[in-house]
Amino acid sequence: MIRVFIPRDAAALAVGAEAAARAVGREASKRGAAVEIVRTGSRGLFWLEPLIEVQTAQGRVAYGPVAADDVAGLFDAGFLDGGAHRLSLGDIAAYPWLKQQTRLTFARCGIVDPLSVADYVAHGGLQGLKRALEIGHAATLGEVIQSGLRGRGGAGFPTGIKWKTVAEAKADRKYVVCNADEGDSGTFADRMVMEGDPMSLIEGMAIAAFAVGASKGYVYSRSEYPHANVTFAQALDAVRATGGLGPHAFGPNNPFDIELRIGAGAYVCGEETALLESLEGKRGQVRVKPPLPAHKGLFGRPTVINNVLSLASVPWILANGAASYAAFGLGRSRGTMPIQLAGNVKYPGLYECAFGVTLGELVNDIGGGTRSGRPVRAVQVGGPLGAYFPPALFDTPFDYEAFAARDGLIGHGGIVVFDDSVDMRAQARFAFEFCAIESCGKCTPCRIGSTRGAEAIDKLESARDAELIEDLCETMKFGSLCALGGFTPYPVLSALKYFPEDFEKEAAAPARAAAG
Ligand SMILES: Cc1cc2nc3c(=O)[nH]c(=O)nc-3n(C[C@H](O)[C@H](O)[C@H](O)COP(=O)(O)O)c2cc1C
Ligand code: SF4
Repeated sequence: MIRVFIPRDAAALAVGAEAAARAVGREASKRGAAVEIVRTGSRGLFWLEPLIEVQTAQGRVAYGPVAADDVAGLFDAGFLDGGAHRLSLGDIAAYPWLKQQTRLTFARCGIVDPLSVADYVAHGGLQGLKRALEIGHAATLGEVIQSGLRGRGGAGFPTGIKWKTVAEAKADRKYVVCNADEGDSGTFADRMVMEGDPMSLIEGMAIAAFAVGASKGYVYSRSEYPHANVTFAQALDAVRATGGLGPHAFGPNNPFDIELRIGAGAYVCGEETALLESLEGKRGQVRVKPPLPAHKGLFGRPTVINNVLSLASVPWILANGAASYAAFGLGRSRGTMPIQLAGNVKYPGLYECAFGVTLGELVNDIGGGTRSGRPVRAVQVGGPLGAYFPPALFDTPFDYEAFAARDGLIGHGGIVVFDDSVDMRAQARFAFEFCAIESCGKCTPCRIGSTRGAEAIDKLESARDAELIEDLCETMKFGSLCALGGFTPYPVLSALKYFPEDFEKEAAAPARAAAG
């Protein structure tokens, strides 16, 4: 039986992976070839999707992008034996874009069958949990603290410190909640984990639960992720069937289980306290802090709440040791970051590497510049609340502090690229508009300020008007309860600062017209 690997990742499905898989199945039965189709996640090289790999005697051989119409030709070329074809990519692991990466969190993504516990274990899975159970609660906490892992959801708070706070809290019950809301524009790494290597997230949550003494976990995902939700629910069932989740997960009568909950997709429900409200069945509205969720979180109990990537990084840390993880990175940003390249970029996809690579390297060298071929004018890093950086700031290293020093943020690691046809005035207006639409309405600077901000941009004609916008941004920054209102000023102010010409009424229109 020859194994053929075809992604079931949403990005691959969007460009025809399902039709390609059906064509492979049809063609194989027509020709009497014994083929086992294994549906995997994506390797993250989106411009090559659907990327199909065949297990040959020489190892896995890749072809892509494969349309359903290409399949008969691939069979004719003997692709089941790794035969040459115009879509041949050879050993994809040796492909420079993939080879240059440091894949720790994404080591298995696109390689394993996401629903096979045996495949997961064969590729190093469960080693982290095994070690945690051997070294005990305190030493597990110590490993996560020493690794320097910081929350990948955006705020960059040290994960081990958060866990320690929950571990030390006294309560009859504690929870681990995974934030899989992934609302940031240009981000898809959480989805890729859930679709491509969901068991790493399950293992990470189990380690967190063991370390802090929790017996129940929740994953909060969104309805816009139907494929991820189906795969993740199936992966939970597969692990439960082996006893890895359930009443004896950590040993006899030592339970841990995970429930998947699906939100309706409000951006603010990614904010941890609004998420907890939503999980409790209430309207997703931000809570006043303190108390912190680590003290009083879900149903009033101490709760670890972490992003998918934070939790999915933990098995590697436990399996390989904190020092190995901390050996990667720059300054206080330790380890690797799964960076997501999106927007108008030639090579979009998932690129995991150690912190410290510059923004210019990511956009121009790794991303290959714009897909349109026009010059890069701006990039927005860190989602809709992130600043717009012009190429003059491309020497900024990918590092929490370096971005903060330039009034930017790396957030969840999404980079959205724009070419010179972008209208930055429209982008600034969009930032206010987005905030107005997504605001939970609890505080005035965000609820009212965002609408007034969009109006002010529409009316903007003079330096006096720009001052008014800056003044409004100050109020939003310092008067908002959470980062939705508090960070909306960053895209607005960066657009004003670096692209002032777009705010001179007459200037923006010709620029757009020239871009055609
Ligand atoms: C408006 C808003 C939206 C957010 N959306 C997300 C999200 O989609 N996913 C996420 O992990 N964190 C999101 N966060 C950050 C969370 O509040 C929180 O910091 C994070 O879940 C903590 O996990 P971490 O320490 O592993 O990053 C958001 C924050 C704000 C203010
Ligand atoms: S800043 Fe906006 S989203 Fe955050 S609490 Fe205030 S109104 Fe709600």
